[in-house]
Amino acid sequence: MAGGAIYPVGYLDGAYIPAGDVRLPLLAPGVTYAASVFEGVRGYVDHAGKGVNLFRLGEHMERLVRSTQILGLDDIPSAEEMGEVTLGLMARNGVREDCYIRIQVYLGGDGEMTARGPTGLAILARPRPQLADRLANGIRCQVSSWRRNTDNASPVRAKAAANYLNSRLAGLQAKADGYDTALILTESGTVSEAPGACLFMVRDNVLITPPVTSGILESLTRDTILRRARALGIVDDVVERPVDRTELYAASEVMLVGTGMEVVPVVGIDRLTVGSGARGPITRALQDDYFAIVRGGRDAPAQWLSPIPDLKETPQ
Ligand SMILES: Cc1ncc(COP(=O)(O)O)c(C=O)c1O
Repeated sequence: MAGGAIYPVGYLDGAYIPAGDVRLPLLAPGVTYAASVFEGVRGYVDHAGKGVNLFRLGEHMERLVRSTQILGLDDIPSAEEMGEVTLGLMARNGVREDCYIRIQVYLGGDGEMTARGPTGLAILARPRPQLADRLANGIRCQVSSWRRNTDNASPVRAKAAANYLNSRLAGLQAKADGYDTALILTESGTVSEAPGACLFMVRDNVLITPPVTSGILESLTRDTILRRARALGIVDDVVERPVDRTELYAASEVMLVGTGMEVVPVVGIDRLTVGSGARGPITRALQDDYFAIVRGGRDAPAQWLSPIPDLKETPQ
């Protein structure tokens, strides 16, 4: 959760408390056995400067509930309740800038690995400005020698803390070898995703992304890009299909998308240049559209934007 200082008000197990007091007990299986699931949500200042909207909050909370079901975490609040609690936290912090929120459901208790409860909910947030240089100039990636977790071992469809060991190993290797991040292949050798983002490529003016059965998180940014690319008609076709490693080398554009990553051009892979070696026109068009959408400057489904309310309108 890299970024600026954490906002002073946090949330833990039913109460808004000082952020520094949001801590999990060491013996909890949520810590020892990584029996915990989470969401990362971004907030963006409205294009008219009127306030801050959380992007696709409701669907992030629905994915969080699905993740708890896969991990067998019982008795959690509903998606709606967790959304309300999150908005209440941001109101209490008086947030007026671009920001990022981490919402975590964890297994508490005293150490039983297969326990289904007690479960807890922890939320912290911090400012998160956009990284203009990375968005404009792109990043370089290494196809990792680590393979993506398989669905029958550690399902990536759940946004589970445990899955990020796999992401971490790939990320560590990429950084040690001088790259910005990794691209991870499935056990069968097709392209899956990056440690914390999904992948799109452009070939012959067709936008292509691996399917949800390629060991990826069912990303909301991926969904946004798929819908927007189809609506904008900027490519001849938009396709979800398995992607071979060498297609990445043959692509005219590659990009990574995710809540944290946003829409970032990939300009090099395995020391080979992608396309022209600079941000391509389709990536640029999708970035421009995405940033207009998240800031409420272009038509998007109303439920995609959840405004942070004034504190006085928030249940105390
Ligand atoms: C492994 C992984 N894949 C993809 C994504 C992108 O998902 P989303 O667009 O819902 O943030 C994330 C999180 O940002 C992630 O952690």
